[in-house]
Formats: sequence, C-alpha cells, structure tokens
Amino acid sequence: MSELKVGIIGLGIQGETQIKAFRSIPSAKVLAICDSNEERLKLIREKYNIQKVYANYLDLVNDSEIDVVSVCTPDFMHHEFVMAALRAGKHTIVEKPMATSSKEAEEMVNESKKKGVYLMVNFSNRWSPAFRIAKDYVEKGEIGEILHAYSRLNDTIYVPTSMIKWSSKTNTLWFLGSHIIDLLLWYFEDEVEEVYGKRVSKLLVKKGIETADAYQAILQFKNGSIATIENSWVLPQGEPFIVDFKLDLIGEKGAIRIDRSHHGMLKKITYDKYEMPDILRNIDEDTITFVKDGLKALLDSVQSGKTPPVTGDDGLKVTKIIESILESNKRNIPVKV
Ligand SMILES: NC(=O)c1ccc[n+]([C@@H]2O[C@H](COP(=O)([O-])OP(=O)(O)OC[C@H]3O[C@@H](n4cnc5c(N)ncnc54)[C@H](O)[C@@H]3O)[C@@H](O)[C@H]2O)c1
Repeated sequence: MSELKVGIIGLGIQGETQIKAFRSIPSAKVLAICDSNEERLKLIREKYNIQKVYANYLDLVNDSEIDVVSVCTPDFMHHEFVMAALRAGKHTIVEKPMATSSKEAEEMVNESKKKGVYLMVNFSNRWSPAFRIAKDYVEKGEIGEILHAYSRLNDTIYVPTSMIKWSSKTNTLWFLGSHIIDLLLWYFEDEVEEVYGKRVSKLLVKKGIETADAYQAILQFKNGSIATIENSWVLPQGEPFIVDFKLDLIGEKGAIRIDRSHHGMLKKITYDKYEMPDILRNIDEDTITFVKDGLKALLDSVQSGKTPPVTGDDGLKVTKIIESILESNKRNIPVKV
C-alpha cells in the first residue's frame, strides 16, 4: 500500500499528539504542518523534522502532494480550515467537537458529499479499549436492550485555567460532552429525541473565564431509553488524574460499567503527589495507542474506499444535541432535538 501524505493545521497539544500518532503508522507520513504561531511552527518542524511548513493554511490544503488534512485548531475554529480542505478535494479529519454550531457542521457535511471525499470526526474514544470491548458486548446482545445510561467526563480546573487558552470561547459540552454523546449514540444505535440541560456558572467566571463550570443533561432517545450526562471543568487540581471519566450502561439482561480514569494498575506516589498515569500510552512510540488507531481508521478508509467508522453525519448529530442542550438550559424547558 502506498504511503498517504498528511498535512496538519494547528500544532498545539492535540496537533503534536497527532504528529506522534501518524509517525507511528506505517501507511502515513506527516508531510506538512501549519500554525499561525511562528515560534510553535519552528519548534515542531525542528523537533519532528517535517519537510514542509506553511504559515498560511490555504497553501497547505492546496499542496497537490497532500492526501489527507487534519484540523487541530481550537473548538470554535474548525469550520474555515475544514471547508478549505474539503474544497481543495482533500480527505479531512476534524478534531472533536466537529463545530460549535450545526450550521457550520452541516456545511462541512454537504461539502464533503459534494466533493466525494471523506470527512471524519476524531471521536478517538471509540478506539479506547474498554469502550470498544463494551461495544462488542452490546452488539452481541450480552446486556440486552439498553434502558438507561450514565456518563460523566470531567476535567480538573487545570484544563480551562492553564492547559487551554481559549476556554471562554467554548464550554464543557463542546470540549468534553461531544465525546460522551458520540459514545452514547454509538451504543444506543438510536437518535436522541429530546434533551433537558442545566448548568452552573460561578467559579470560572469569578476567575475571569467566561464559561460555565459544569453542565448536566438528560437525553431521551426515540425508543424511550434515557441517559444522564455530566461535564465539569472545576474538579480540584489535587485529583490523581486530570480526567474523571465514567460510563454505565444498564440493559434488560445486564450492565456494563467503565471507569476510564481509575488506572488502578498503576499508581505513582511521591511526597507531595498521588498520580494514576495513563496506562494506554505506548512508551516506545510516545503515543496514546487508541488515538493512533482512530487516525489510522481514516487512512484505511482512504486506501480501501470504505466509509470511515465515524462520519461527518455522526459529528453533525452530536452538534445538534449539544445545541439543543444549550437552548434547553437557556429557556429552562426540555427541547426537541
Ligand atoms: N480527540 C481528542 O481526544 C482531543 C484531545 C484534546 C484536544 N482535542 C481537540 O483538538 C483541538 C485542539 O486542541 P488543543 O488542546 O491542541 O489546543 P491548543 O490551543 O493547544 O492548540 C491549537 C493550535 O491552533 C493554532 N492556531 C490557532 N489559530 C490558527 C490559525 N488561524 N491557523 C493555524 N493555526 C492556528 C494555535 O497557534 C495552536 O498551536 C480542539 O478542538 C480540542 O477540543 C481533541
């Protein structure tokens, strides 16, 4: 199989994670990179010895050698780059959340269909082992029809206050909720009909960051089943792991419970800190194994001509659900999706 040439726009935390992941996939080569931050561009170029460097994303998407473009800019800045890549006829991976409005997400889906190229949203947790095994159990009917579910994906306050600089331009539903809503749609294999959402907004605003502390929402599926979700950005920094991630699926015949944040196999305790490092990291490649698997899925699709396992339509569904939760919170009533 020939090597696919990848161009990455946005070289922050996730852009660099993707570079490491692509470099460990034999069918991929990161040929070009782009970032508006010149210093960062130079640093990443030198660190990973990247052949082509673009300060302007239009030059990257129009590079005829590039087969696949990956967009890793902040949550609210995906549309412009994705549209340019699709218009240039490139297969495109967009980081989650696909967009922060369904209008933007819809335009991306339409453009990918018009151009006949793949658009995949990087909902990488679908490749995370526990979630993948759970999908297998659900598909084999081991817990029967899912009646209700609970999922929380929360971060310590370090994430909105120090890790990302643009937290006031997104919120926990876009940043974290998009992951778990996608997982729930995947497991339930049904559409969400109605949502009811609430938020609390006190601590981060007090710290000068204009975004909610946490959202909680109830999702009602068309088949009558229900799910509750929670996404917080204000967990104390003393937590042993930056992410608190749980998922319970309760079915007619059994239940599945996942605790992705409790890495019970590995604890690191020093005089002032208690940590549970991520055990899904491949030390030799310095990659998170499931992130690599997710990106490889798009490359496999390009090479085989088979639709990617996560499509733009999947991303659009998640975007519409989040928009409805935000509207529900604003109007203080349940909202049809
Ligand atoms: N799939 C996952 O599990 C996962 C994990 C982390 C982050 N993400 C997503 O990845 C995206 C990026 O997050 P991050 O944490 O890397 O953010 P970041 O702030 O660390 O990086 C964003 C980068 O985009 C660059 N940028 C901004 N404007 C640009 C422009 N006009 N042209 C080119 N580059 C520009 C910035 O200079 C920066 O280097 C977000 O949407 C985030 O939600 C996904």
